[in-house]
Amino acid sequence: MKAAVIDAYGGSDRLQIREIPEPGEPGPGQVRLRVRAASVNPIDWKMRRGSLRFVMPAKFPLVLGHDVAGEVDAIGPEVTRFEVGDPVFGLVDPRAPGGSYAELALARESALAPMPQALSFEEAAALPVAGLTALQALRDKGELVAGETVVINGASGGVGHLAVQIAHTVGARVTGTSSRPSLDFVRSLGAGEAIDYEEEDFAGRDDAWDVIFDAAGNRTYQDCEPSLSRDGGIYVTTEVGPRSFLNGLFTGLAGLFGQKRRARWITVAPKAEDLAFLARLVEQGRVRPEIHEVFPLSRIREAHDLGERGGVRGKIAVRVG
Ligand SMILES: NC(=O)c1ccc[n+]([C@@H]2O[C@H](COP(=O)([O-])OP(=O)(O)OC[C@H]3O[C@@H](n4cnc5c(N)ncnc54)[C@H](OP(=O)(O)O)[C@@H]3O)[C@@H](O)[C@H]2O)c1
Repeated sequence: MKAAVIDAYGGSDRLQIREIPEPGEPGPGQVRLRVRAASVNPIDWKMRRGSLRFVMPAKFPLVLGHDVAGEVDAIGPEVTRFEVGDPVFGLVDPRAPGGSYAELALARESALAPMPQALSFEEAAALPVAGLTALQALRDKGELVAGETVVINGASGGVGHLAVQIAHTVGARVTGTSSRPSLDFVRSLGAGEAIDYEEEDFAGRDDAWDVIFDAAGNRTYQDCEPSLSRDGGIYVTTEVGPRSFLNGLFTGLAGLFGQKRRARWITVAPKAEDLAFLARLVEQGRVRPEIHEVFPLSRIREAHDLGERGGVRGKIAVRVG
């Protein structure tokens, strides 16, 4: 089968399109997918560069790609929810050798959901990692409810543009930050206010937000803490590392002594029920993934270059089959 493969860490020129062996039959709880589309997430180019080599060491040759939309090609033992031919979307199996930048990929049944009919394969492949991160960050970590105020830092990107829509759907009052060219886009998603992050620092305001979601992962709890509501404001970041862990630990401990502000971090969980929840929001017309550009697999290097350069509104999709 055709795949985009890397043989070593490095720049986007490491990505090579070539024929590789197909994955074998799916194991228990696994599904083999005929991949129609994938999308580019920062984790893909961070893995390619080797930035995550200590937490996720690669075995070369490596096929990158986490998000997938396609058709069920074969089902393994114990799979009950899908049949061959079903259109599905979700995440590839991280324990399987290959990612979604390939014509066939293995996924766990528990990390897939039926594809929303309203979406193309490219749009469906834009949802899993970014949509689950946004949903779980706001609902589970931020405990966001109707009437609350929320800042989404990095509101035009993959995670951020879905977070704005989800927060708006919840009934929260949303402020989004982005670079100047994307301010109108952020407003169009349901943000009542959009701040140009080069012009103004949201954390420098006197406002007291209920939730600050640092989707861009570039503002610390210490930056944001003065702008959180004293009455239980919650900061959530996509940055996973010792600093986020310690901030979470310390604010948790301080909570025992009466402090109500909290720092939390999100690690996306590939849950089928949350994918189905996102699919329902899409079917109801309340959330829609925005595709900045679709690249064929043969131009995967350009797709990575664009993702790393920034300025993307929504997601970069990759057409595979
Ligand atoms: N922990 C997890 O489970 C998890 C899951 C998914 C993603 N992530 C991480 O979350 C981050 C965002 O992911 P993504 O898919 O949304 O990436 P993305 O599509 O590249 O979006 C990044 C966003 O950050 C904005 N940005 C850049 N510089 C900024 C600044 N100084 N202030 C505010 N915003 C700024 C960008 O806006 P402009 O392009 O307009 O500059 C863009 O909106 C990445 O670091 C990714 O690795 C973590």
